[in-house]
Amino acid sequence: TRKLGSRKQRTLGLIKPDAVTKLGAIFQMVYDAGLTITKAKMTLLSRKEAMDFYVEHQAKTFFTDLIEFFISGPVVAIEILGDEAVSLWRKVLGPTDSSAARNEAPESIRAKFGTDGTKNAAHGSDTLASAARELEFFFPSSGGHGPANTAKFTDC
Ligand code: TYD
Ligand code: MG
Repeated sequence: TRKLGSRKQRTLGLIKPDAVTKLGAIFQMVYDAGLTITKAKMTLLSRKEAMDFYVEHQAKTFFTDLIEFFISGPVVAIEILGDEAVSLWRKVLGPTDSSAARNEAPESIRAKFGTDGTKNAAHGSDTLASAARELEFFFPSSGGHGPANTAKFTDC
């Protein structure tokens, strides 16, 4: 039931290739935080799709490493719904760098399942605007089915 004055938001969560085997534990952490999963999709992104998704970082020194890691195996995209879902999901994720996460937020997803500053287990949209863009990327309202999953899993 919906509480009066609550601010329901939708945000995009992504389980990155290094944490797909931890999918069960991560889904449990979403629900334990009081959030709900309303859509889910596993897909292996093409390099072009990955570069498009992370276009805001294209000029960064870590961009190539980020993209190589991001397409090294399938990712699982989830639509997360709940009160203040954007910031709450980021809190469940923990800091970007998994080592920092282990110090600052040891119960967070990145602390538990990430490795370093690139292999960090999961993604969360950082604002309502990026959530809208990133949800449209994986779950297009146009009626299509998002990334075409043209790469074969045997390619990884
Ligand atoms: P960013 O948007 O800064 O972090 P977040 O995922 O917490 O929103 O960066 C996007 C991803 O890029 C990040 O999850 C991991 C990778 N990355 C690196 O590989 N090296 C870095 O120094 C940074 C800042 C990010
Ligand atoms: Mg970010």
